[in-house]
Amino acid sequence: MKKITKTYHKLIFGDAEDMRELEDKSIHLVVTSPPYFNAPFDYPDLFESYEAYLEKMRKVARELRRVVADGRIVCLVCDDILINGKKYPVVADLTKIYLEEGFIYRDKIIWIKPEGYIRISRRSGVVLQHPYPMYFYPDNIQETILVFQNGKFDYKKIPETIKEKSKIDVKEYQENKWYLTTWNITNVLPLSNRIEEGVAAFPEEIPYRLIKLFSYVGETVLDPFMGSGTTNKVAAMLGRNSIGYEIDLELREVVKEKMGLKKNSLFEKNYEVEIIIRDDARRLRSFLQEKVKNQKSVVKNAKRKTTGII
Ligand SMILES: C[S@@+](CC[C@H](N)C(=O)[O-])C[C@H]1O[C@@H](n2cnc3c(N)ncnc32)[C@H](O)[C@@H]1O
Repeated sequence: MKKITKTYHKLIFGDAEDMRELEDKSIHLVVTSPPYFNAPFDYPDLFESYEAYLEKMRKVARELRRVVADGRIVCLVCDDILINGKKYPVVADLTKIYLEEGFIYRDKIIWIKPEGYIRISRRSGVVLQHPYPMYFYPDNIQETILVFQNGKFDYKKIPETIKEKSKIDVKEYQENKWYLTTWNITNVLPLSNRIEEGVAAFPEEIPYRLIKLFSYVGETVLDPFMGSGTTNKVAAMLGRNSIGYEIDLELREVVKEKMGLKKNSLFEKNYEVEIIIRDDARRLRSFLQEKVKNQKSVVKNAKRKTTGII
C-alpha cells in the first residue's frame, strides 16, 4: 500500500480578515467557499448589509494576497444569491474585488449539481401556475468556482521528485472530465444527522480535484472559511498540510469529527492537528440555525400556496 506523507493541520477559530498566524507567501493553494452573504440556508443576518459583506470579503482577499506564495492559486466556490426576491451579483463582485486586490483572473468553472436537488425555492413552478410570458424564473443547479492566480508561477522551482509524487492520474482526469469548464458533481445532501448539518458544506470531490490540480504533495492548502473542515480533511488524505480559519466556535466539534479526531474514529491517520481558539471567535450556529428553521417553515407554507409543487 502507498505510504501517506505525514502532514500538519492548524485549525484556527477566529476572523479570517486577520491571518496573523501566517507568514507572507507561505500558502501554496487556497480552496474555500465564502459565506453566501445572508443566504437563508447558510447564516441569515450574518452581515448588516451587502456592502458590509463585500467589505469583509475584500479584507480577506487582501490577507490572501499577502499569504499566498508567488504564482499560486485561490479557488472560491460561490454563487449569486437570491434573498427575499432580490438577486445579489456575488460572483461578479468577488471577481472585481480579487482583480482590484491584485490577483490575476485565471478561470471560471461551473459546478453543476444533479437536477433533482434544489435548495429551498423551486422558482420555475410559477410558469406552471401562470403559463404566460414574464413569469419565468429558472431553478439554480449550479455554483461557480472562481480561479485566481497570485502572479506568475515558476514551474522550474519544483523538484522532479515532488513532481512525480504529485502526478495527476490522467485516466481519472479524462474519465471524470476534469478538463471541462463544467464539473458535474453531486452536492452534499441536506439530510438530518449528517455531521455537516447546518453548514453549507461542499462535497469532498471539489477540494479533491482542486488540490490535485493546483498543489504538490507536502505543500500547504488554506481554507479561510473552513466550515466543517472539508478542505482540511481532503488535504490530509492527499498528503498536503492545511490551515483553516473559522469564525464560529460552535463548529469545533463538527471539524474534529470530520478530521477523525473523535474517539473510535475509523480513519487511518498520519497527520497532526493543532486547534487554536482566538478571542475574536464567535458562537453563531445555534442562534442562526433557529432563524433558518423559522424561515424554512415560512417558505414551505408560501410555496404550497403559490406554486402547488414541493
Ligand atoms: C459556506 S461555509 C464553508 C463550508 C465549507 N466549505 C465546508 O465544506 O464545510 C462558510 C463558512 O465561513 C464562516 N465564516 C463567515 N465569516 C467568517 C470570517 N470572517 N472568518 C472566518 N470564517 C467565517 C462561516 O461560519 C461558515 O462556516
